[in-house]
Amino acid sequence: MDKIVIRGGRPLHGSIHISGAKNAVLTLMPCALLTDEPLTLRNLPRLADVDTFGHLLNGHGVSTMIEGARGGEFGRVMTARANNISSTIAPYDIVRKMRASILVLGPLLARAGEATVSLPGGCAIGNRPIDLHLTALQALGAEIELAAGYVKAVAPRGGLRGGRIDFPMVSVGATENALMAAVLGRGDTVIDNAAREPEIVDLARCLVAMGAAIDGIGTGRLTIQGRDRLHGATYAVMPDRIETGSYACAAAITGGELELVGARVDELTAVVALLRQAGVEVSETPRGLRVKRANGLHPIKVTTEPYPGFPTDMQAQFMAMLTLADGDSELTETIFENRYMHVPELARMGADISVHGRTAVVHGVKSLVGAPVMATDLRASMSLVLAGLAAQGETIVNRVYHLDRGYERLEEKLSAVGADIERISDG
Ligand code: UD1
Repeated sequence: MDKIVIRGGRPLHGSIHISGAKNAVLTLMPCALLTDEPLTLRNLPRLADVDTFGHLLNGHGVSTMIEGARGGEFGRVMTARANNISSTIAPYDIVRKMRASILVLGPLLARAGEATVSLPGGCAIGNRPIDLHLTALQALGAEIELAAGYVKAVAPRGGLRGGRIDFPMVSVGATENALMAAVLGRGDTVIDNAAREPEIVDLARCLVAMGAAIDGIGTGRLTIQGRDRLHGATYAVMPDRIETGSYACAAAITGGELELVGARVDELTAVVALLRQAGVEVSETPRGLRVKRANGLHPIKVTTEPYPGFPTDMQAQFMAMLTLADGDSELTETIFENRYMHVPELARMGADISVHGRTAVVHGVKSLVGAPVMATDLRASMSLVLAGLAAQGETIVNRVYHLDRGYERLEEKLSAVGADIERISDG
């Protein structure tokens, strides 16, 4: 298995290109299942999860072709076409690798009238049930059965119908599944307490480009007029706001200055506000965002919330940054119940963190020291990379496959701005 070796202590300077968003592309790709015409996605990031989702779609009979990005360019183009759906089963072997596989459930059910998807099960950051996905589809008329580790959903004769969905809590994935199912339903659907994440706005806009009728995009109430069929479209994946936030933390933790090219500040309001509170300078440039730290880092209070609040996917990276603040910071995780797996690893690098239930108190230290570390999820792995960039000496980050799921060409982007970072292949 590959490792990433970082010799820390160098302030980063220069510019980093922000790739297409992982969490957007993973909900745009299943839209290909909704039409027999081609869906072309531009600004496709090079990520292991995109390959995995491609294989999942291929298993349903969708042809996928990826072009472009030769000679080190970013932004590939994928054309996916589901001429006919040859299988409605999403097997355990793929779903266990990537929870986002559950996002084929809504579109398969809407287009083919049935879907059998392996239950994703728990994962490192918490229990992560799918009950909200299932009740939303039931509200559109689906019959749902759980058996042998699979969820089997069947649409009524004549297809899904419109319905009322009122989510008891905000769920990104359940909102996405409900939206993708409702666009082909017979009649109108209202989704209340819908997630408002920018990736859902991206999904809704892509569906509209495919001929769907959706009102209230970007709000907590989505109204959908079902259509008999959708057509093909070309759509550009939004820039990755979590990748942007992660590299902003890289500039901050190393005391450097980075321009994040392609980043959109309006999707990062909560992150930018807290960076500024911590003493980090953030400004807009014609190409994106500039992030700079000239003085010390101040301690802050961070609480994760659904969008537009501070994203849970940025909690681990902020924690790494705050290990070097001049005082005590407090982070509260309200979305996932077990998202502090990076704490003991950061502690091995000299961080001083105590966890009390959902709250972690980070007592700032003067410096971190390099160590061999590993993490059990994507954003936790990134927090260790950030700590390694600031630490004295060598940090070896194991289980690099987590990073490959969500950060396009991480070591290439970081070494181009002055980091001493390399990938060591074990075989
Ligand atoms: C998505 C993102 C993930 C991000 C998360 C929260 C993708 C591929 N993943 O995950 O990176 O961390 O949003 O912003 O886009 N819940 C239930 N029942 C359900 C569904 C969710 O109880 O049926 C709970 C979850 O356990 C969690 C909370 O709702 O506590 C929010 O989860 P959700 O928004 O659904 O996250 P995902 O869509 O899985």
